Amino acid sequence: MSGIGPDEMAHTLARASSSIGEVALRRRGAVTELIVNGTFVMDTVDVSTEVELATGTLSQHPAPDRVLVGGLGLGFTAATVLADPRVRQVKVVEIAEPLVEWAETGLLPTDLADPRVYLRAGDVGEVLRGGDRWDLILLDVDNGPGFLVREDNAGLYSEAGVSTAYHALAPGGVLAIWSSHLAPELVETMRVVGAGARGAGRGNVQEIVRTIVREGRSFEYAIYLLRRPLGEGDQGGVTDLVPSPLAE
Ligand SMILES: C[S@@+](CC[C@H](N)C(=O)[O-])C[C@H]1O[C@@H](n2cnc3c(N)ncnc32)[C@H](O)[C@@H]1O
Repeated sequence: MSGIGPDEMAHTLARASSSIGEVALRRRGAVTELIVNGTFVMDTVDVSTEVELATGTLSQHPAPDRVLVGGLGLGFTAATVLADPRVRQVKVVEIAEPLVEWAETGLLPTDLADPRVYLRAGDVGEVLRGGDRWDLILLDVDNGPGFLVREDNAGLYSEAGVSTAYHALAPGGVLAIWSSHLAPELVETMRVVGAGARGAGRGNVQEIVRTIVREGRSFEYAIYLLRRPLGEGDQGGVTDLVPSPLAE
């Protein structure tokens, strides 16, 4: 926690219009804030779960070669992926175009200058339907299925959306979805998708829950993980999620 009070004066670092409305980057003391359409999206006071979205998922894969991150936000998940030397390629998809430009010009509080990263403006849903295969897919595009900022994102959390993401995983790959609240319906959807693909039983979904305290209020953030098993013939590989060293 920064110890910066909520009343400290904020000043705007950058502001631009985008396809989802006006995007602004603000500075309040040592804290950077992201505002979209006048609505607070995130700040840098506590980014532990944005970081854990990356570390918790990276720890589940023996060779995370290709990673898809959606969206960029302030870049903490993407920067944490890049800190893992096993990763060879990271595509980061962000719907608010100015954020991509600000990342490239060094305005964000994270350093994404790395030849392994490709920043792309667009909807991560389209990229998931594009036919590429990923070892890890990390989705933090909204508050979660129960509290959407962008209604169009509902499809990403639906059975069809989760199934599309699941089938965009390479065998042995892991899908991770961040949520600002516990989301039992999403767990069920992920189980159904995992089970359907296996043809029997129920998909193995891991839930990592973290309590975050902000300005005296406590919030339960969650990260949901689903692994796509290795195909038949891939003997000896990991087929189920191992208990995360970070999970309780
Ligand atoms: C909470 S922020 C992500 C924070 C990020 N994990 C970090 O470490 O800073 C969510 C981001 O997703 C973007 N976004 C929302 N819907 C999207 C979509 N369908 N495709 C790509 N990006 C999207 C938002 O513009 C916002 O920048």
